[in-house]
Amino acid sequence: MEQLAAGAVLHKHELVYLLNHLDEDSRKQLQTLAHQKRVQAYGTSVYLRGLIEFSNICKQNCLYCGLRSSNKELSRYRLLPEEITACCREGYELGYRTFVLQSGEDDWYTTEKLVLLISSIKSMFPDAAITLSIGEREDEPYTRLLEAGADRYLLRHETASPALYQALHPTMTFENRRSRLRALQRIGYQIGAGFMVGLPGQTSADLADDLLYLQQLQPDMIGIGPFLPHHATPLKNEPPGTVEQTLDMIALARLMVPDALIPATTAMGTAHPQGRELALQAGANVVMPNLSPLSVRPKYMLYNNKICTGDESAQCRFCLERRIEAAGFHVDMGRGDSLKHLTHS
Ligand code: 5AD
Ligand code: SF4
Ligand code: FES
Repeated sequence: MEQLAAGAVLHKHELVYLLNHLDEDSRKQLQTLAHQKRVQAYGTSVYLRGLIEFSNICKQNCLYCGLRSSNKELSRYRLLPEEITACCREGYELGYRTFVLQSGEDDWYTTEKLVLLISSIKSMFPDAAITLSIGEREDEPYTRLLEAGADRYLLRHETASPALYQALHPTMTFENRRSRLRALQRIGYQIGAGFMVGLPGQTSADLADDLLYLQQLQPDMIGIGPFLPHHATPLKNEPPGTVEQTLDMIALARLMVPDALIPATTAMGTAHPQGRELALQAGANVVMPNLSPLSVRPKYMLYNNKICTGDESAQCRFCLERRIEAAGFHVDMGRGDSLKHLTHS
């Protein structure tokens, strides 16, 4: 562990050994080391991003996800461009300087429509960053969206195990996922990768591969959350990932990719009432409060019991500020670019 904190590169078998032998004491030590590393890189700042879930329509069919196309129970919605810009305005007034536009893979939102949307958000709020999280597209759309003003792109790799990836994603391929992440990076986005912890069948070797993949990719952002079952999916009866193991992975990600922005995810907040605070204390430094209109919140249900589906945007904004300060950190409402990005540009 100390070797890791000192910047040494661990071999896969060493990581697997570590993951299999963590106990209460070594977990605490791991989290302390990760916290120190985060303070060295980013101080005690926590960056806030406003999340707008603008469409729950998805053509893909990921086995774990409540938005999968086979889920016919879900009532689908799509916000119009003017509704999205209205969310941004509300967010801007609440102080947000990053907007994360997230959706299922919804082809109604063509490149043309997105280019218009992104350029109008950028012209209204020139000092805000735009993060897209809309899934897999080709190089050309990615390029045009960047040129329109998008700054960052979240596309979790979901799992570094080819076999597990293939079992969970009947409509997608492992190779293409990786190729899209590399393309986004090459095209010039700040990219976010990441994975779920506690997926059915996932092993310590798979989790070690997740960390090693991140170390090799060097993304600007890393999203890690527990797998949580959704009642209308084939994985409804599977046990959820644990908070404990997710914290291990967050701490290790901080030690292995020290400059990354790491969110304390909504899934962590759902798995445990203090889940996001615990993540911040284990190396995470970003929180993404919801800015979606109240009327659509319950419909963006990736997993059971998702938090904040009944709370106004302003409520989440101030709720999190209180929680962040109580956990010993302070809110930074700036754009919060990654250190990697700042040193390369
Ligand atoms: N449990 C936890 N995370 C999930 N996601 C989707 N479904 C679930 C689930 N059931 C995550 C995926 C996706 C992100 C937007 O949400 O990792 O990339
Ligand atoms: Fe669609 Fe993303 Fe859910 Fe997969 S995880 S079904 S791509 S919204
Ligand atoms: Fe949404 Fe606390 S963050 S209510």
